[in-house]
Amino acid sequence: MTRSEFFDLVGREEVQRLARASGTPAYLYFLRVVRKRHADLVGCLPRRFDVYYAVKANPHPGLLRELGSMGIGADVASIGELEAAISQGIPPGRVEFSGPGKTESEIAKAIQHGVSSINAESLAELEIIARASVREGRIAQVGIRLNPGVAPTQAGLRMSGATQFGIQAANLEQALRFIRSNDRALRFTGLHVHTGSQILSSEAVAENFRSILELALLSEDLGLLPLQKINFGGGWGISYFPHQAPLDLADLSSRLADLFNDSRYASLKTARHIVEPGRFLVGESGVYVTTVLYRKPGARREFLIVDGGMHQHYLLAGGMGQVIRRNFELDYFPVLDRPSRHGSSFDVAGCLCTPQDLLATDVLAHCDVRPGDHIVFFNSGAYGLTASPLLFLGHRLAAETALD
Ligand code: LLP
Repeated sequence: MTRSEFFDLVGREEVQRLARASGTPAYLYFLRVVRKRHADLVGCLPRRFDVYYAVKANPHPGLLRELGSMGIGADVASIGELEAAISQGIPPGRVEFSGPGKTESEIAKAIQHGVSSINAESLAELEIIARASVREGRIAQVGIRLNPGVAPTQAGLRMSGATQFGIQAANLEQALRFIRSNDRALRFTGLHVHTGSQILSSEAVAENFRSILELALLSEDLGLLPLQKINFGGGWGISYFPHQAPLDLADLSSRLADLFNDSRYASLKTARHIVEPGRFLVGESGVYVTTVLYRKPGARREFLIVDGGMHQHYLLAGGMGQVIRRNFELDYFPVLDRPSRHGSSFDVAGCLCTPQDLLATDVLAHCDVRPGDHIVFFNSGAYGLTASPLLFLGHRLAAETALD
């Protein structure tokens, strides 16, 4: 979503007013942007898809409530996320539980809640699920997270191939046989594949779907257990930086239409189809608002020191998976209106005691920035606060507000 598309939904004056009104540092999430992105996603998918939101992208209750009210399910990676989803009205029957390190007690709780699929990531986990199910006296709905062995080369973050996720395709038969021979404890739901995050190529997203359909055919050909669902994972990217073209949704839509009309996959039509995006749904909905505390000369250029930092927004400082730190789009809002004029170039630093706490470098301000002014970082709705090293330096948490 370009800045002007964002400002069509959320006026720049509204952002300025809210930045002034809210204490800082603060995150603001605009639900109308989430609704727009959901509509875009659904518009792109062939009709039979269910959308499950990957809670790890942002577990804020206001977002979960909104998504739940739209009939969306959840992909959770812990009992904390499961309980957060349920508490905001997402029924356990629309929740899938994935993650390579589920503990037996988490598995037992997920069985008690009756989640629609616990996606096992190893043969050993399947045994634990079977044991927990017997102990709970309740059949566990279990899926298999498959690792296709290769990862999409275009993903910003790869989560298949030589990674710790999922069961190797070579072990699929063994896993299915185990589930079949434990049918008093386990009921097979189907397959789950999540290969990576921040994929911006429509061709790569479509190819990813194709490779998952191929795995589903492989599973079907084994003739051991019927597939009730295929979960195609998340990974749809958003454009953070000027060199990144956004995902071409029109092209993706036509590629997916072709793919799902391909008679090769006709037998898979009876299985429920699920996607579980996180970033695509909420990433663009959030802004992170900080206040300039100090402006001071530096050896290279002037610094603006703000009251936020990488402890609250690790991605800004290049956290989690990025190789090179790049500037997120940002905007300056003077606390009192000041005529805009050609400003200087700044580095924006957070308040932590590490040189890594650089939030933007060499940015040109369109006005004369002073202490008290606000700096707002866009595209901050996903993997922001809860994906940051919050306890480092013992600062208080940023406020978070979901706005319609
Ligand atoms: N499903 C599973 C099993 C996942 O592990 C993830 C994300 C998703 C779905 C959602 O992926 P998305 O649609 O948001 O790409 N903080 C990192 C990203 C971590 C992604 C972890 N898994 C970063 O921005 O570099």
